[in-house]
Amino acid sequence: MVKCALISGKGMGIMHGRNFNNHPDAKVVAVCDMDPNLLETAKKEFNVPGYSSIDELLANCDAELMLLIVNETRRIPPLRQLISAGRNVFTEKPLCGLEGQYRVREEDAKIAAPAIKEWRASGLKFGIDYNYRFMTHFKKLHEDVVEGRLGKICMVRARAHFNCWSHVIDQILWSMGLPEWVRVLGNPNEPGGWQRMIQMKWANGTIGSLDGSNTWGFDEHPLRVKIVGDKCHAEARGLDGWYRRCKSNTWP
Ligand SMILES: NC(=O)c1ccc[n+]([C@@H]2O[C@H](COP(=O)([O-])OP(=O)(O)OC[C@H]3O[C@@H](n4cnc5c(N)ncnc54)[C@H](O)[C@@H]3O)[C@@H](O)[C@H]2O)c1
Repeated sequence: MVKCALISGKGMGIMHGRNFNNHPDAKVVAVCDMDPNLLETAKKEFNVPGYSSIDELLANCDAELMLLIVNETRRIPPLRQLISAGRNVFTEKPLCGLEGQYRVREEDAKIAAPAIKEWRASGLKFGIDYNYRFMTHFKKLHEDVVEGRLGKICMVRARAHFNCWSHVIDQILWSMGLPEWVRVLGNPNEPGGWQRMIQMKWANGTIGSLDGSNTWGFDEHPLRVKIVGDKCHAEARGLDGWYRRCKSNTWP
């Protein structure tokens, strides 16, 4: 039985807490939130002791897995504290984004780097919730690419609403690896809707594009990833399992 402590009494935290708690091999044994009302919510939900700080939680609870479901703007200090206390950690994506998940900057990577280094040296388990990797249609697309069913990959075309931004980037990197270069058109300081058009190229010659927008939303699936190979092309769309794989070169 894995003893878990949940840090967050907010919606996303409660959801993760419930999922772990409903697993036959895991149990939420304590909760923590600096907000007294949300701490009460979490205590009632799991019927376990609650603490208003991570210091107090660590001093009073021997849970081996910490569910750190706090925002990317304030995740790194508690993550480092938990790792240095020898606790395994599960957290949300993206790991660090001081200006929010839609605007992850080079500076954020620098802030996250010591935490990653400390985790690697610790031998502890650390997970980031890229849950789209477990959706059947995205899994299928990934497997079709890496198991060669699409043939030699020539092109990637993706699009996402910004609420799915971290996930669409993760999907591309997961199946394709790091591109050699990326360039972007768009103004991230534009008020209201953002529009971004990204082009990229991989070392093996594969070219790709990714469009981001928060005006083009759920009506046409909040994200799509299409990968074109010389044998087949395939596309995974949205959050409801849409997947299609077709033979390449079907022009009559
Ligand atoms: N994977 C997905 O599909 C998906 C979907 C939605 C949201 N998310 C992610 O989930 C995360 C949700 O974060 P949020 O906005 O609810 O977090 P948040 O920062 O608002 O924190 C959640 C709760 O934890 C408490 N808290 C924060 N830091 C604390 C600390 N050091 N000590 C004690 N309590 C602390 C806060 O009081 C708050 O009630 C985001 O990163 C978001 O990107 C992921």
